[in-house]
Amino acid sequence: MSPFRLTRTLPEDATDSALRADVLQGLTGSPRTLPPKWFYDARGSELFEEITGLPEYYPTRAEREILLARSGEIAEASGARTLIELGSGSSEKTRHLLDALTGLHTYVPVDVSESALTLAGRALAAERPGLNVHALVDDFTSHMTLPGTPGPRLVAFLGGTIGNLLPAERAAFLASVRAMLAPGDALLLGTDLVKDEKVLVRAYDDAAGVTAAFNKNVLTVINRELGADFDPAAFDHVAVWDAEHEWIEMRLRSRDRQTVKIPALDLAVVFGAGEDLRTEVSAKFRKERVREELDAAGLESARWWTDEEGRFALSLSVAR
Ligand code: SAH
Ligand code: AVI
Repeated sequence: MSPFRLTRTLPEDATDSALRADVLQGLTGSPRTLPPKWFYDARGSELFEEITGLPEYYPTRAEREILLARSGEIAEASGARTLIELGSGSSEKTRHLLDALTGLHTYVPVDVSESALTLAGRALAAERPGLNVHALVDDFTSHMTLPGTPGPRLVAFLGGTIGNLLPAERAAFLASVRAMLAPGDALLLGTDLVKDEKVLVRAYDDAAGVTAAFNKNVLTVINRELGADFDPAAFDHVAVWDAEHEWIEMRLRSRDRQTVKIPALDLAVVFGAGEDLRTEVSAKFRKERVREELDAAGLESARWWTDEEGRFALSLSVAR
């Protein structure tokens, strides 16, 4: 068994005040919004894992196909001794990369979900003697303090999670990733690609209702953490394709006019019948846009791979 460490750089009270600020700002604004990071308590992380196995949700399978085919090339090109994975979740697909990165010294999974990190980190440390696993409970959109491990560094951001950031947030995020890297270090980025609207909407509105449960879980989180009285059954799960922005929007639509109380914020929010609360955007990309956004952050696109069906892309870029 190799060493497993977990560092909580986000103290409980900082998480609590960030949730309060996000809920206050998001529910009093117009349109009403919530940032997607609050989906991922222990239940939300489990529901996401269930989503990854759904017949309609192709991104995980497509990205795994690319990793299976290309991890050797990625390992050779990066020569990484430290792998930092942002939003690592279950680290399931990362196993293919870890198999290929034979000179790896430390794996640093970073996630807001402590339960997902602990489960994945313990399992990996037990399976892979000689690999240091140093997990960080942290928000990848904030300034992160990384352990002082040997380079070269490879930062992996898989699953298409970059699409859950709005364009301005993406630019700030990519600049902060660039700041973590020394010249020659690399970023491995998973991006879901623009495709037929029906395929996209189905992926976010599955027949078994798992994505609906995942979406509504954010209401349960706010009820538990802020004493709110959201009734998840009083909202419908909605997934729509926004062709202008090329993103899927997940929303919760109020069935009737209703008032929700949030005692911790001393707030009462009135939802009109049919009013939407946007809980997530999931942007879909084209090659040129990925290249431009990387370039703007000081990252030079080096490789671009897709799955056989061209649904999902992995790109490797190098810090200038
Ligand atoms: N990379 C995995 C998991 C993707 S789900 C995969 O490809 O399957 C998105 C993950 O990012 C979740 O584990 C969630 O907890 C985490 N996450 C979401 N927003 C985050 C944030 N702001 N900071 C850190 N982790 C975040
Ligand atoms: C984590 N992220 C990339 C997922 C996505 O596809 O945008 C989250 C998700 N939302 C609904 N289903 C999955």
